[in-house]
Amino acid sequence: MNRKLFINDSHIINLGKIHNRAGNITIIEGDQLIPFSVKRVYFLYDVPGGAERGGHAHRNLFQLIVAASGSFDVKLDDGKARKTFNLNHPYIGLIVVPGIWRELANFSSGSICLVLASELYDERDYIRDYNHYLNYKNDTFTI
Ligand code: TYD
Repeated sequence: MNRKLFINDSHIINLGKIHNRAGNITIIEGDQLIPFSVKRVYFLYDVPGGAERGGHAHRNLFQLIVAASGSFDVKLDDGKARKTFNLNHPYIGLIVVPGIWRELANFSSGSICLVLASELYDERDYIRDYNHYLNYKNDTFTI
């Protein structure tokens, strides 16, 4: 089923912010603005200049990716089309649906990549080899 999700199923959402003189707050509530319950939160930080992360797809995991600080690029690939999102505001999130290959790159110094995930960590949910990924997606097109 999730093999049939494509880049256009991934999308940017505006999380909004509550602003006052003492600063901003952005709230993310599972099942409200985002289409899943949050089971896990993790964040990437101290990413060295020039480093790339990701380089995998998930079979069932939904994620919301936010540049909580700084900026970076999220490159999505569904086996047919590719699209790069530059995330650079803490109130903007990118929903990444299952079945999409993703790479994260061009992290600015001090950036923080916040990820909210629909499932607990499970290595069996990962596809880490790109050719394996293409075969996985191609099964979609032959069904
Ligand atoms: P990985 O997802 O491969 O990182 P990235 O895609 O950002 O390059 O995870 C890196 C390591 O951390 C890998 O050994 C698995 C481990 N890990 C966990 O144990 N739990 C988690 O929730 C995550 C995201 C990673």
